[in-house]
Amino acid sequence: KRRVRIHHLQQLKERGEPWPMLTSYDMYTARIFDQAGIPVLLVGDSAANNVYGYESSLPVTVDELVPLVRAVTRSVERALVVADLPFGSYQASPEQALAAATRFMKEGRAHAVKLEGGRRYAAQVEALVSAGIPVMGHIGFTPQSEHGLGGYRVQGRGDQADALLADALALQEAGAFAVVLEMVTAEVAKRVTAELRIPTVGIGAGPDCDAQVLVWTDMSGMNTGRTARFVKRYADLGGVLADAATRFADDVRNHAFPGPEHSFH
Ligand code: KIV
Ligand code: NA
Repeated sequence: KRRVRIHHLQQLKERGEPWPMLTSYDMYTARIFDQAGIPVLLVGDSAANNVYGYESSLPVTVDELVPLVRAVTRSVERALVVADLPFGSYQASPEQALAAATRFMKEGRAHAVKLEGGRRYAAQVEALVSAGIPVMGHIGFTPQSEHGLGGYRVQGRGDQADALLADALALQEAGAFAVVLEMVTAEVAKRVTAELRIPTVGIGAGPDCDAQVLVWTDMSGMNTGRTARFVKRYADLGGVLADAATRFADDVRNHAFPGPEHSFH
């Protein structure tokens, strides 16, 4: 089985073949998504909300994410695994970014890292790429800047469009291999995708991006709560699990489990 490499993603863009990406934070989902042919898995800082129970992505640390990255990289045969640099691990300087990214590559055995922000983090992207670490950019609505952006708001409207394109071009120039576009208008995402040589990965960015990413707990219905408009729910895992747990509990209470077939003599 051949590993997915960054040049394969570039080839898919050139052939006009959209590719899927999902988040993953553990062994079973990594294995299942890898075997389902998902070429890129992201150990997102969304593990903050989806693993650790934080109310936003801001509190999660490198120490908390590295073991999840290691679990995912141990569990895939083909997928390219991208580790998300969390808030506070790269903003201060290229040196700080290199230290955090090195931990994800060395201890987590990640294949690439992702960081949020455009032009203002070009120096960080350059430093990582110079060190041989593939970098995925992330612009538009960037959850780590939720408070600075004034909440969950669609980006790139009106005269923000040129700034968004300038950010995307700066990331490409700095050596990024792909750029996530989050919650930007379909029109602007289409324009950025056409202007860039490297692939765009959309989330709430319309149908014209080169790739599409969703958070696995959202797309599978493991998260039974309210989700953003851009999420499509492909299953009701939360419902399936709740039903399994309820039936197990009933069986125990009714002396229906374990049966003879589950017992040793
Ligand atoms: O952390 C995350 O899950 C992400 C994706 C939504 C792109 O950054
Ligand atoms: Na993220």
